[in-house]
Amino acid sequence: MNEWYDAIKEAQSVEKLEEIRISVFGKKGVLAEEFAKMKNASDEEKAQIAKDLNTHKSSLMNEFTAKKITLQTLQLQEALKAEYIDVSLYSAKSSAGALHPVMETMDRIVEYFSAMNFAVKTGTMVEDDFNNFEALNLPKYHPARDMQDTFYFKDEMLLRTHTSPVQIRTMMSTKPPIRMIAPGAVFRRDYDLTHTPMFHQVEGLLVDEEGKVSFANLKYILEDFLKYMFGDVEVRFRPSFFPFTEPSAEVDISCVFCKGSGCRVCSKTGWLEVLGCGIVDSNVFEAVKYENVSGYAFGLGVERFAMLIHQIGDLRSLFEGDIKLLEQFQ
Ligand code: DAH
Repeated sequence: MNEWYDAIKEAQSVEKLEEIRISVFGKKGVLAEEFAKMKNASDEEKAQIAKDLNTHKSSLMNEFTAKKITLQTLQLQEALKAEYIDVSLYSAKSSAGALHPVMETMDRIVEYFSAMNFAVKTGTMVEDDFNNFEALNLPKYHPARDMQDTFYFKDEMLLRTHTSPVQIRTMMSTKPPIRMIAPGAVFRRDYDLTHTPMFHQVEGLLVDEEGKVSFANLKYILEDFLKYMFGDVEVRFRPSFFPFTEPSAEVDISCVFCKGSGCRVCSKTGWLEVLGCGIVDSNVFEAVKYENVSGYAFGLGVERFAMLIHQIGDLRSLFEGDIKLLEQFQ
């Protein structure tokens, strides 16, 4: 028996100890073997052998349990040492992204008009001549087409130059009344300090029964909207021309930089032009076969709004993907 005490003492691993346990205490282990041998002994001897074996059995078990705890503790310590993580070590800085200022501004615009019960429509970026021009009272060879330099594909298809064709698409596919806005990208052959070949607009259209929609309705909602976007600014309407509205107006806000006193950004006028609008021209309703209706429409450039809200000087910086600029909007 004594060699088993030594074996337990010398066991170097939990696995080895387990082998020893099976050899000693198992069904075919030494203890079982020794007990079996008792059969041939006399009664007197039996009692003695049984007593001795039971003593061995319990002290071997004590040794075994103690050793097992020691080995397990050791094993755990080794694992902890091997898997140690130094949380104070240097790691590359990771930072969360943020919405691009143009998208953030667009979200805010959509938020306002959604709250005013306008549905959001998208249309398509590749348009045809009818939706982008013809139906908007811009017939072929009309000089107003020159206001927007166009990217053409074959077969009269083009990249939409404004979001106004979404007005046409919506009226062609639904019956009045209509309350919609159309946020999205538009494209023009233009590239300088204040123009990029792609930019974003939000279009608005409201149509109801004849006589129900007035310029006063348009004026009210746009003033409210502009104060929502720019805070406490003054708003003024200037007569203007768009082929799809009559009468038409351009809308100015008092300069957000100089508060109206005149600076470089507002060309010393104290005013900044921010959108175009008007009462929907009857030719547009005719093109989509709407009868006995009235409506107003408006359109604005999202980049211009973003630049005025965030005081960004150069339009092109919005498209350069410069991380230093974008990080300021986190
Ligand atoms: N489509 C015009 C543009 O791109 C903007 C615009 C002006 C839209 C007046 C309108 C409107 O719906 O009524 O310059």
